[in-house]
Amino acid sequence: MKFLLFTFVGVHLLFLSSGKAIYRNDTSQRTFEEIKEEIAHYGDVAKAIIDLAVYGKAQNRSYERLALLVDTVGPRLSGSKNLEKAIQIMYQNLKEDGLENVHLEPVKIPHWERGEESAVMLEPRMYKMAILGLGSSIGTPPEGITAEVLVVTSFDELQRRAPEAKGKIVVYNQPYANYSKTVEYRVRGAVEAAKVGALASLIRSVASFSIYSPHTGVQEYQDGVPKIPTACITVEDAEMMSRLVSRGSRIVIQLKMGAKNYADADSFNTVAEITGSKYPEQVVLVSGHLDSWDVGQGAMDDGGGAFISWEALSLIKDLGLRPKRTLRLVLWTAEEQGGIGALQYYQSHKANISNYSLVMESDGGTFLPYGLQFTGSDKARAIMKEIMGLLQPINVTQVFHDGEGTDIESWVQAGVPGASLLDDLYKYFSFHHSQGDTMTVMSPKEMNIAATVWAVVSYVVADLEEMLPRS
Ligand SMILES: *[C@@H]1O[C@H](CO)[C@@H](O)[C@H](O)[C@H]1NC(C)=O
Ligand SMILES: *[C@@H]1O[C@H](CO)[C@@H](O)[C@H](O)[C@H]1NC(C)=O
Ligand SMILES: *[C@@H]1O[C@H](CO)[C@@H](O)[C@H](O)[C@H]1NC(C)=O
Ligand SMILES: *[C@@H]1O[C@H](CO)[C@@H](O)[C@H](O)[C@H]1NC(C)=O
Ligand SMILES: *[C@@H]1O[C@H](CO)[C@@H](O)[C@H](O)[C@H]1NC(C)=O
Ligand SMILES: *[C@@H]1O[C@H](CO)[C@@H](O)[C@H](O)[C@H]1NC(C)=O
Repeated sequence: MKFLLFTFVGVHLLFLSSGKAIYRNDTSQRTFEEIKEEIAHYGDVAKAIIDLAVYGKAQNRSYERLALLVDTVGPRLSGSKNLEKAIQIMYQNLKEDGLENVHLEPVKIPHWERGEESAVMLEPRMYKMAILGLGSSIGTPPEGITAEVLVVTSFDELQRRAPEAKGKIVVYNQPYANYSKTVEYRVRGAVEAAKVGALASLIRSVASFSIYSPHTGVQEYQDGVPKIPTACITVEDAEMMSRLVSRGSRIVIQLKMGAKNYADADSFNTVAEITGSKYPEQVVLVSGHLDSWDVGQGAMDDGGGAFISWEALSLIKDLGLRPKRTLRLVLWTAEEQGGIGALQYYQSHKANISNYSLVMESDGGTFLPYGLQFTGSDKARAIMKEIMGLLQPINVTQVFHDGEGTDIESWVQAGVPGASLLDDLYKYFSFHHSQGDTMTVMSPKEMNIAATVWAVVSYVVADLEEMLPRS
């Protein structure tokens, strides 16, 4: 059965600074059926991309390229020499790949180093725990902080027991619900503990699974609240301390952290393009972040996302394709410190926001994709569903809600359609921000599929006659 879902006014919407939209081209009336037909014509292109990336000579390329970088450079913390080395290598790589307009855009980024760190339980027994200081935490005095522990399982419990917290080390043993909910403890744990007079805080790692692995990440101090040192501990130790205190044991810990914050460092977002043939000013942006934490290799977070984004452009170039709009690759810097590179990019480029058709970020793993997460109007969503239908041969066709990613957030909040890759987040948050984030968790075959999805979606959106509708 054929029926009209809705009628498109064939327009390019221009959002003026007043927020009002005007129509640049209201001469065509395209029905959804017509757009469906236009998309169906990309079946051959999708097939060619699949053949090249999954079965052909580009097979395993994004994995091999990523392995070479992360084995050579290692982790890429904001402000580190490693990160700047990786950026220079990527700049060369993208040039040698024959991509266009390869350049670096300067950004000032945070520079924090963890230094030496340790946590030793002195009572009720001697025991050295695994810890990882949290990004932006201050250090302890050289002799450390030695204090009794108060274990709580929630911010509510901390409030109820506020009088007991003064002069202690607060240990959070919050259960894992999901990342976005539970990460509050890592981000605000030190501030909430400091407000009730604690000397330091230790936070159960925000992880879906643990084999005694601390998981680091960024934390935030608040103006007017004393800064106290803060680190994450393993799920195992948080649970053990909970059990010990429930039996009436008194726990004393000596915490030593050499963490330091330095002046902001110079860094860059790394950019490359395939310039559009018909609407070069209009952009489809594909992205991932090049920085990582200082543990593991940053292979999964977010080497995978960065390298399937590069791969998307490589595949399109290898097939001799040039979309009507510009396909722009951005490898963000300092995502982990709060999307610092992406904020700079948004500030520098938002004047052209009306010409961004779609912003894409992969920062949730590049395992076998379940599909695409998408934020945009119902009309745009219907178009994305048609495009994902082209991926039937690799069985990745679903379009979910909530296209997300720290680095595309500003654009999406301002009304630009946004897409992200969805895969097994349980696996992702098992290795996230830990020593376990290495090439060993990556699969070449899964990256082939993820890169294929990325290439087909970005190419087709960039090549459609019209930009994705915003309303
Ligand atoms: C308006 O859009 C239609 C269909 O997309 C196209 O054929 C036509 O050339 C466009 N007109 C202008 C003035 O851009
Ligand atoms: C790609 O990787 C898979 C899985 O490791 C392997 O079986 C296959 O031989 C590789 N293909 C090529 C062309 O190296
Ligand atoms: C995360 O967990 C909280 C608490 O259980 C819940 O309210 C929220 O909807 C969950 N979020 C997601 C994205 O599942
Ligand atoms: C905006 O786009 C135009 C092309 O349409 C380009 O020349 C200009 O450099 C862009 N400006 C920014 C800030 O990105
Ligand atoms: C957007 O692109 C169009 C051409 O496609 C150009 O005429 C217009 O100036 C651009 N707008 C901005 C804000 O750069
Ligand atoms: C295709 O994907 C769906 C949903 O992701 C899954 O349930 C199904 O088993 C897959 N089919 C094949 C043949 O792999």
